[in-house]
Amino acid sequence: MDKILILDFGSQTTQLIARRIREFGVYTHIIPGTTPFKDADLSGVKGLIFSGSPYSVYAEDAPTLDPDFLNTDVPVLGICYGLQRMTRDLGGKVEKKSIREFGRSSVTFTHTHPLFTGVPEGFISWMSHGDSLDALAPGFRLIAQSENRHPAAVAHESRDLVGIQFHPEVSHCQYGTEILKNFVLGICNADPQWSMEAYLEEVSVELREQARSKPVLLLISGGVDSTVVGGLLLQALDPEQVHLMYIDTGMMRKGESQQVAKTLKALGAKNLYLIDASGDFLPALSGIADPEEKRKIIGDMFIQVQEREILSRNIQGSLLAQGTLYTDLIESGKGIGSKAQVIKSHHNVRSPLIEAKRARGEVIEPLGKLYKDEVRKLGITLGLDPEVVYRHPFPGPGLGVRILGEVTREKCDILREADGVFIEELKRRGLYSEIWQAFCVLLPVRSVGVAGDAREYGYVAALRAIIRSDGMTADVYPFEMKDLLEISAMITNQVGAIGRVTYDISSKPPATIEWE
Ligand code: XMP
Repeated sequence: MDKILILDFGSQTTQLIARRIREFGVYTHIIPGTTPFKDADLSGVKGLIFSGSPYSVYAEDAPTLDPDFLNTDVPVLGICYGLQRMTRDLGGKVEKKSIREFGRSSVTFTHTHPLFTGVPEGFISWMSHGDSLDALAPGFRLIAQSENRHPAAVAHESRDLVGIQFHPEVSHCQYGTEILKNFVLGICNADPQWSMEAYLEEVSVELREQARSKPVLLLISGGVDSTVVGGLLLQALDPEQVHLMYIDTGMMRKGESQQVAKTLKALGAKNLYLIDASGDFLPALSGIADPEEKRKIIGDMFIQVQEREILSRNIQGSLLAQGTLYTDLIESGKGIGSKAQVIKSHHNVRSPLIEAKRARGEVIEPLGKLYKDEVRKLGITLGLDPEVVYRHPFPGPGLGVRILGEVTREKCDILREADGVFIEELKRRGLYSEIWQAFCVLLPVRSVGVAGDAREYGYVAALRAIIRSDGMTADVYPFEMKDLLEISAMITNQVGAIGRVTYDISSKPPATIEWE
């Protein structure tokens, strides 16, 4: 399959470049910008992109580029730092300018170029730089400039080397997608073969080669990633060799365990172990109010239960499949793209038994090339129920971190019911898909209320609904007051133990999404 290789110099938008290009059907792969040329896998590579960076090219610790990447016949697009890196390495000059360009900036062409096919002569780009090109490298000419008359785009006279100072991957950049398409489909002539169907075919062949006739074990959390891996294994392999284990901690959402079982059975699961471990988890949490202590107890209990169940079913020799995503395997941002071996395991828990499998190379990660939204597409392609595929995320410790203070079975039941009403109402009102994550929290206070003529002393539930802009920040969903009032009344009417409902209006930061 044709691919575009992105050399990441640590820009916050490297992931965005990769996703934009995948969106129009060409597979992308990100490697650290400092990777030696001999270590890069260039099979199928039709073009190279050098990303931006928080560094200046003349900084002492600036990430360097192996010059061999500039000596191939493969077309190159340098973006921001990528352009400056290329310019400096090929004999041009980069300097700090008195006028820095951040945000919107209009760009006009000085020469026509295939990079700008279909783009009007003046358009609004998005810039983020303090350094600019002072002298172009030999063989290059200017093809566009910014409103401050700084070079905005350059191209080599005889080779397919182009560079742009602005960021086409950012949604504020007009014609950004067209410019990336012109490079990838036009200049690189890459064939847009990346689709979920193609991926499914490719990954199925790989899975069969990896697993052969060995048993494969997958720990299912109820979340979309592990469920999609389950679907994939059942479709690609003989369902008899696939062992699926789901541990119900007693702190799952309403209907979650039943839905997981139904989904996997519908996909042909033969060896499905649904373990009700609430009798292990809930007593272990008795009397514990400290959030960190609760997390640790839950994490340790996962390890104990997993190991016990794996041994009791005599499946400890199986290969282990995991729902690790592409984003879990690469580090973006400040780490200059260095490969972080961040391996996500079930509920963020690493058991010694499972770590030993990893050390022996017995771990299969079939989602390792995908982004989260692509996993959802794959789930749909596999025929998974859209309700499962588009379910809001749920933290590993489950309701355990949404019941503030001590966790008891009674409180789990109350919260599960209240959360169930909230989620059901969001779906009925067509709001569920607009919201990134919504849930109820059970507060550790009781408050006075009246029901009929009687005085009641009920629990207080807080509703949380957020729109996430990225991993680090979150905005509160701006409900219509009517929706909130009606949902509040439904919760107090249907869940007798709850006497009062509040809406959490704190953004992240300073608050976090979860309360504990
Ligand atoms: P916070 O509360 O840190 O949450 O703003 C950010 C996202 O992470 C989820 N979350 C977790 N997920 N194990 C998980 O698998 C955990 O321990 C955990 N804690 C928080 C949270 O639901 C939100 O989506």
